[in-house]
Amino acid sequence: MKKYIFLIGGCLLATPSSADTLDFAMGKALFDRPWTSAPAATQATDGLGPLFNARSCLACHPKSGRGVIDRAENGQLSGRGYVIRIGNEKGEDDPVYGHQLQTNAIHGFKGEAKVFYEDGYYKLTELTYGEMAEDSKFAGRLSQPLYGLGLLDRISDETLLALADPDDKNKDGISGRVNMVDGKIGRFAWKATAPTLEIQAANAFSNDIGMSTPVHPQHYGDCTKAQQDCRQGPSGASPQFENLEIDSQMLHLVTTYLKGLKPPAPTTLKDDGLFTSTGCAACHIPVLTTSDGRKVQAYTDLLLHNMGDALADGIREGDASGREWRTQPLWGTRDTKLFLHDGRAKSVEEAISFHGGEAQSAKERFYNLSKGAKTKLLAFINSL
Ligand code: HEC
Ligand code: HEC
Repeated sequence: MKKYIFLIGGCLLATPSSADTLDFAMGKALFDRPWTSAPAATQATDGLGPLFNARSCLACHPKSGRGVIDRAENGQLSGRGYVIRIGNEKGEDDPVYGHQLQTNAIHGFKGEAKVFYEDGYYKLTELTYGEMAEDSKFAGRLSQPLYGLGLLDRISDETLLALADPDDKNKDGISGRVNMVDGKIGRFAWKATAPTLEIQAANAFSNDIGMSTPVHPQHYGDCTKAQQDCRQGPSGASPQFENLEIDSQMLHLVTTYLKGLKPPAPTTLKDDGLFTSTGCAACHIPVLTTSDGRKVQAYTDLLLHNMGDALADGIREGDASGREWRTQPLWGTRDTKLFLHDGRAKSVEEAISFHGGEAQSAKERFYNLSKGAKTKLLAFINSL
C-alpha cells in the first residue's frame, strides 16, 4: 500500500471534482503529515531524521504562510519556523555540520546545537560535534510564505533574463542577476537557489526533515562524513517506495499542492505612483506575466540584488554572494508579522531601513518623502 493512500483514506471517499483536486488533497496530506522515525509500525509514515528541524512541512509553514518563530521564555527556539543556514563566501558547506543546522533528532541521537533568538539575532550553544570550521558563517532564515508560488513558477526564463541587468547597462544603479543552478534559473528560496518547486520541496525534505527523495537519495539528509553516527542511523527507505523515503510520486503530489496554493487577493488601495517614483518598483516589480498570459501581482523580479552590508550574511549559495538576496515578493504583506530573510524586522518601515547596496537610493528617497506621502505609501504596502 502506498504511503499517501494511508494518509488520506477519508479524502478518497469524498468524490473529487478532478484528478488535480485529488492530487492537491493528497499533496496537502503529505505536507501536513508529521513524519516518524524508522522503523515504525507502518512504513507509511517513517523516515524522519536521524537529524531534523521539524517533523512536517506544516510545522514551519502554518496556513501556507511564513513561519512564526516559536521562542521559549529563555529565548531558546524550537525547530519551527526558521532554519540556520551554514556556509562561507566561497559557497562551501561546513565540513562537519553541512549546509544547515538540524536542531532536533530522533531517539538515541542529539540535535546539532541549541539556538537562541533575540531581536533578529541568532545565537548557538552546545554544538554537538565541536566547533564549526573557522571560515564558516551561520545565519537565520525565516520560512517563507507559499501562496501563489505556482504562478511564480510559470513566469518564463525569458522574462527573468530580460529583466536582469547584471552589468547595469542602463545605469540606474540596479543590476538584478539570475542565480544559475545546474544550468537552470533559480527562483525559489531567499537566495533563489531552487529552480523548481519540486527541487525546493526535495531540498526541504532532505535538509529540514531528513528524508530522501529522487533528488537527494541519501536517507540521512544533510549529515556529513564527519557525522558517521547519523549516516548509519535508521532509514525508512523501502523497495515499494523506489528504495527511498519519499518516492517520485509523493514528491510530485507535494509539488502539485504547492502549485495549487492561491495568491492573496490584490489590494484595492491606490498609491498615486509613489511606489514607482520612490524606486521600490525597480526590484519589487508590481506585475509580471506568466508564459500563459496571466498577470501576477507579486511585487518581485525574482532576481538577486546586492543589498549592502546590513543584510549581508557572508554565505554564498550558487551564484548568490553573501550580499545578494532575491527580491522578496510583497504580496501577502497584510498578514506579515516578521520581515526579511532572518525575520529581524517587525514592520515594513523597519524592513526598508535595512535596505542598502542597490536599494540605497530608493531608501533615501523613502526617507525624503513628506509625512503624508510616506503614510500613504506604507498604507499601500501594508494592504498588499
Ligand atoms: C524547519 C522549518 C521548515 C520546514 C520543516 C520546511 N520548510 Fe520550507 N522553508 C523554510 C525556510 C527557512 C525557507 C527559506 C529557505 C532558504 O531560503 O534557504 C523555506 C522555503 C520554502 C519554499 C520557497 C518559497 C519561496 O518563496 O521561494 C518552499 C516552496 C518550501 N519551503 C516548501 C516546503 C515544503 C514542501 C516542505 C516539506 C517537505 C517544507 N518547506 C518544510 C523552512 C521550512
Ligand atoms: C535593489 C532592489 C530593491 C529595491 C530598490 C527595494 N527592495 Fe525591498 N527587498 C529587496 C530584496 C532583495 C529583499 C529581501 C532582502 C532580505 O530579506 O534580506 C527586499 C525585502 C523587502 C521587504 C521585506 C519583505 C518580506 O516579506 O520580508 C519589504 C517590506 C521591502 N523590501 C519593501 C521595499 C520598499 C518599500 C522599497 C522602496 C522604498 C524597496 N523595498 C526597494 C530588494 C529591493
